[in-house]
Amino acid sequence: MQVGPNNVLLGHFRPFYTMFLSISKKIMKMKGHCKIWFFESVGGAVVIGSLSSFIFAVLCAYVYVFPKVQPIIRDYGVPESSDPIGRCNVFDGKWMPDQSYPLYNASECPFAERGFDCLANGRRDKGYLKWRWKPRNCEIPRLNMTEILEELRGKRIVFVGDSLSRTQWESMICILMIGVEDKKSVYEVNGNKITKQIRFLGVRFSSFDLSIDFYRSVFLVQPGPAPRRAPKRVKTALKLDKLDDISKEWIDADALIFNSGHWWTPSKLFEMGWYFQVGGSLKLGMPISSAFRTALETWAAWAEATINPNRTSIFFRTFESSHWSGRNRNSCKVTRQPWSKTRGRDHSRFSDVVIKVVKNMAIPVTVLHVTPMGAFRSDAHVGTWSDNPSVPDCSHWCLPGVPDTWNEILLSYLLSENELYL
Ligand SMILES: *[C@@H]1O[C@H](CO)[C@@H](O)[C@H](O)[C@H]1NC(C)=O
Ligand SMILES: *[C@@H]1O[C@H](CO)[C@@H](O)[C@H](O)[C@H]1NC(C)=O
Ligand SMILES: *[C@@H]1O[C@H](CO)[C@@H](O)[C@H](O)[C@H]1NC(C)=O
Repeated sequence: MQVGPNNVLLGHFRPFYTMFLSISKKIMKMKGHCKIWFFESVGGAVVIGSLSSFIFAVLCAYVYVFPKVQPIIRDYGVPESSDPIGRCNVFDGKWMPDQSYPLYNASECPFAERGFDCLANGRRDKGYLKWRWKPRNCEIPRLNMTEILEELRGKRIVFVGDSLSRTQWESMICILMIGVEDKKSVYEVNGNKITKQIRFLGVRFSSFDLSIDFYRSVFLVQPGPAPRRAPKRVKTALKLDKLDDISKEWIDADALIFNSGHWWTPSKLFEMGWYFQVGGSLKLGMPISSAFRTALETWAAWAEATINPNRTSIFFRTFESSHWSGRNRNSCKVTRQPWSKTRGRDHSRFSDVVIKVVKNMAIPVTVLHVTPMGAFRSDAHVGTWSDNPSVPDCSHWCLPGVPDTWNEILLSYLLSENELYL
């Protein structure tokens, strides 16, 4: 989903003719969908059940008859959100069984941490590995890692956020390593092992001059000591109006992928003595949802002031669905099959805030709206197949798994933008 005033499709600095070519190509793709759609309609297999499908039919007819007429698509916004990947909302779709998955073997990827390698930790059923995300109106292209590594030569990709961000970082490295012959040419720059608390991990693909970095910043904003005369229970003040001080290291990336959400809970904040602070004064009664919004606005202002959108593609991943159940939301039953319905988990207040804040930004930011796709995947969490089986986990995902899909989508975006550089 692309939100923000500058549409990425229009490119911030893509020459006009490239833009035109690309739009034409996308229309051709839409024409393809329309053809199938029409065939089904005419055959009576599809019942026009709503006004919107009727409008879509009319639009299809129009595009099919006048394939060179562009504005109609933009004006009517069909498909719903404009998107470099086949002009469709890639986050609206379903999971399809696919035997060609998973993309890699986590036990053979030195950067998949043991805690996420469910098979190595004793998970027996393997069905959860064999799913592909199918957007409603397009396909996520199957990526050739050899070619992708060439495209990414000389680049720096930076993931920032919590452990869900670390999972995506690990997944990205494992996916890219498929295309690397000499696995020893990929290494962590400080020789560090992956641990939960580490603030920086940098993996270098030396044959491709490519860096894939991770910065741990679970709230994105800066924690500090409690102010003097603060109540005893306050141990740390989270400064909602100051971005994390390691943010200066994110600036010169080619792609920046952020997340935040899982730490914004009473048990990770107030019960640990963390309280909010704005402009030097503690906000003891501030609800978590307003605090999250304030932090995100701080992040947005920082990005607008410091990031050069001509150099850096910015992404924000929405809340990664979790599947806790029971009255206290502390029971975790990993299923064998994905849920067939999202059961309300395709919505999250955190995701809503991310989407709203990004929409008002002056620079383009792509929202990776992974909440709905994750909502189905009650089968894909680490559960008790983690490094600590006594504490079941319905927040983190097995690798390989759902985070690989986030990366397939992310890579598709990066590559469609890389057309710019050709
Ligand atoms: C993954 O690799 C390990 C180590 O080489 C091997 O023992 C295991 O069978 C592989 N798993 C799968 C699912 O191929
Ligand atoms: C990937 O691309 C390379 C270079 O273009 C090609 O040689 C190789 O056969 C491709 N691999 C697959 C699996 O398509
Ligand atoms: C980005 O590129 C555009 C078009 O070349 C230019 O007008 C703009 O000043 C650039 N922005 C920055 C921050 O460099």
